[in-house]
This record gives sequence, C-alpha cells and structure tokens, in this order.
Amino acid sequence: MRVAVIAAEAVPYSKTGGLGDVAGALPKALRQVGVDSLLITPCYLQTKSEYLWQTAIDDLWVDWRGGSYRAKVFYSEANGSPTFLIDAPEYFHRDSIYGYREDHERFAFFNHAALLLLRRIGQAPDIVHLNDWHCGFAAVELASNRKWDPYWSNTKTVFSIHNMAYQGVFGTEDLWNFGLGSDFARNAFMSNGAASAMKAGLEISDTLSTVSRRYSFEIQSPENGYGLDWLVRQRASRLIGITNGVDYDVWNPQTDPEIDAHFSLDNLDGKIECKRLLLDQFSLPIDLNRPIFASITRLTAQKGIDLMMQVAGEILEAGAYIISLGSGERAYENFWQRLRDHAPHQVGVYRGYNEKLAHQIEAGADMFMMPSKFEPCGLNQMYSLRYGTVPIVRAVGGLDDTVRNFDAVNGLGNGFKFEAYSADKFQEKIYEAIFAYGDKDTWRTLQRNGMSDDNSWENAARKYVELYEWTRRL
Ligand code: ADP
Ligand code: GLC
Repeated sequence: MRVAVIAAEAVPYSKTGGLGDVAGALPKALRQVGVDSLLITPCYLQTKSEYLWQTAIDDLWVDWRGGSYRAKVFYSEANGSPTFLIDAPEYFHRDSIYGYREDHERFAFFNHAALLLLRRIGQAPDIVHLNDWHCGFAAVELASNRKWDPYWSNTKTVFSIHNMAYQGVFGTEDLWNFGLGSDFARNAFMSNGAASAMKAGLEISDTLSTVSRRYSFEIQSPENGYGLDWLVRQRASRLIGITNGVDYDVWNPQTDPEIDAHFSLDNLDGKIECKRLLLDQFSLPIDLNRPIFASITRLTAQKGIDLMMQVAGEILEAGAYIISLGSGERAYENFWQRLRDHAPHQVGVYRGYNEKLAHQIEAGADMFMMPSKFEPCGLNQMYSLRYGTVPIVRAVGGLDDTVRNFDAVNGLGNGFKFEAYSADKFQEKIYEAIFAYGDKDTWRTLQRNGMSDDNSWENAARKYVELYEWTRRL
C-alpha cells in the first residue's frame, strides 16, 4: 500500500509543536510495518540545509493565481522515510512558520503543489493522509480531480485532526484565487459566511481520525468542537481516534544524545546526575532532595497556564523548584519572568524554543505539569513517562488516555490526574505528588510504572494501517 503523508511541519525539518513530532515519525513507523510511505512538507527558512540531501525537481511548475510559479523540490530521508520538501521562498522563507495574515494562501499553495508533485512522481498513492486545517485544501482538490482525472480514481483521503481550535478561516473571495471556486468546493469550505479549511477537510475527506480516542468524542460536543461539532457528529461513523506514538529513537533516556547522563528502568542514577546538571544550568542551588516541577509548552490558554499561575505559590511554599521552558502569549511569559524574579533560588525560566533544553528538562525534572483545558493528544506527558518524570495532568483528550492516576495502596498508576478545570483540584494532585515523592519506594514504583509503559509508534502505525485499509474499501 502506498501512502503519502502531507503536513505543514515535520521533524527534523521543522517543528512548532506536536504536529511536527507526529508528521516526522509516522511515515517512518509506517515503513516499519510494511507501508510504502512518503512525506511531503514545506521547506522553510528554518529547515537546516544538512537535511536537504538533494534536489529532486527544480522545475515544479505550479499554476497559481492566474500565473505560473516555479517551485523547487528537495529530497531527504532525514526522518527515516522518503521526504519531498517543497521550496517556494516567497511563501516559506520567513521568520516564523505560522502567524501571517495570508497563512491560508501559503498552505493552499502548498497543497496544490503537493498534489502536482504526486502526479509528477508518477504513481498515485492509495491514500493521501492529510493533517489539520493546513491540508483541507488538498482534500477538496483531490476529490474534485477524482471526478475527471483517472490518475486519482483509486486514491482515498484520510484527514487527521490534531487540534480543532485552529481552523484556517478566511474570506470566501480567495477561493477563486486558489482554483477552488466551483460550487462543490465552495460548499465544502463554507462555514458561517466564511471559508474554513478545517471544515472542508472534515466534510470531504473519505475518513477522519483524531490523535487520541477520547478527543474523538470530545470534539463532538460544542465545548471542544469550536463550531464544527455538528459536522463531526454527522461524520462520526467515519471517525476513529488513534493515540500518537513516541519516537523512542529520539526520546530514550538510555541513548539520548542531548543529555549528559543516561539512565533506564533498572538504573536511575543517571537521572540524579541530570537533575544536578539541570539545577546548575539554571543557576539554582543544588538540593537534590527537593522535587523539580517542570513545564515545557507553547504558552497558550489551551495548556492551562492559568492553573499553573494559581498553584505556583503553593509549590514554592512547599520548598520545591519550578522550571519552565516556553514562549507564547505575553501575559504568560511575563508571569513566569515575575515568578523567577520573586523566587530566583527556586524558579528557572527559559523564554523561547529550545529542543536540547526540552530533553534536559525531561531528564532532570521530577514532575511534569500538564493541566490542559483541552489536549488532543499531548506528547510531553508520554516523554515524561519514559524519562521517569511523573506527569500531573488533567483528564482530557490524550492525557486521559495515557495517564493513570496513582493508587498508592496498590502501587498502580503512572501519574496524577484530576477532572475539573480547577486550581484547587490541580493543587490537591500537586500535594499528593509531593507526598509520594517523600517516600523513595513509592516514588520509584511510580517512575517504574511510567517507564515501562509502551507508547511506541509501532502500535499506532498498525492502527493507521487498519484505518487506511478500511478507507480503501469504502
Ligand atoms: P502541542 O502540539 O499542542 O504544542 P504536544 O504536547 O503535542 O503539544 O507537543 C509539543 C511538542 O513541542 C513537544 O515535543 C514539546 O517538547 C515541544 N515544545 C513545546 N514548546 C517547546 C519549547 N519552548 N522548546 C522546545 N520544545 C518545545
Ligand atoms: C496538536 C495538539 C496536541 C497533539 C499534537 C500532535 O498540536 O495540541 O495535543 O499532541 O497536535 O498530534
């Protein structure tokens, strides 16, 4: 079976969040279970040239906005699967990956170019696997093409929802500019008087998936459907939840090249050394008996930063450290900065994006805070589990599917989990965690339970294969 995965970001070529981790790892995992997969993603200014192994095509002519645009295509296997990177400097050589007024135009172009590329490669895939709103355009274009172009007649689309909160909404007048002005296309995009790329992908793709089982139900309710829950409910029989995997080649405390001491389930000594180095790096006094609470995240409301703000004082009062890595909304950045100024001996803050530091924090911290408002899957709680860093999470989306609340009596569970979006509930779990940390054996049990969980991509890849096979038969 041939599968083309299309995504706006993919590790190691580009990454702003979990989508990059997933899109980079899935094609490799698919190959390992026998699927002939390839990946198509943009070539950004941020894409390191060492990953652009060779030029695959230097004249991909893209008919666009009434003209013709000559794009280049690079080839690489740096993520472990054949990858084609579409190089269109006007659209993708910018200071950041997202955040421009014309993002919808940038990704509409990318989708159109990706389909032209698949035609040029010459063997139509059985499945085109699209990810998030950035790929809604291709769902519609492919479905339109299928009506008249026999090349696409056996190609089906799978659309994965990684985050329903971002929908790629724009003015309908642009649909003409993108070659999507037919009645069929307009109807697919139309959503409350505007065009929505997420809506188009949801409506037109042959099947749908979300990145955890629980999230597949959550987006059917108004609270998490962001205005499209009616459509998800309508298409629920074509929807399945598949929890993301972890790329244990990248996130493995036994071999991780980003950390200075290694450790495993059987020998956690290296973790203590990682903790010492982490405290030192943030110029914090080295007291290895106090726990470190960590957070690594985009600083947006989704991640429950306001709950962290409300409990931070109590954590400090209990004598623990807090380390935060992240950037995003100014108010949240300012909060962490002020907290550090207020308690410079207990708080370490790094504002920005830093891949190496993310690994060092996972390795050196004791607890990982993820009190998200909603969380389609979440990857950091799974990285934490493998690094013996105990997650404290809210029971939503993938956090609920991967974290089991600790039962101290029976020694079962891999973390701490609370239901209501409330600072009090979060705080209760923080106290429970501090209490458990105080007993070395209990803590070791918790760490072991998490470290022995198997969240590898192999399981997830097999479920995707089943999804693809079902989709082909439809
Ligand atoms: P989301 O995709 O919603 O941001 P996930 O938990 O799925 O959430 O994935 C986030 C990914 O981005 C993880 O790999 C995490 O380590 C990484 N990440 C987030 N913020 C930073 C940062 N400031 N520096 C380094 N890595 C980060
Ligand atoms: C989104 C979600 C996150 C998920 C990631 C990868 O960014 O916010 O929960 O893990 O996609 O699927």
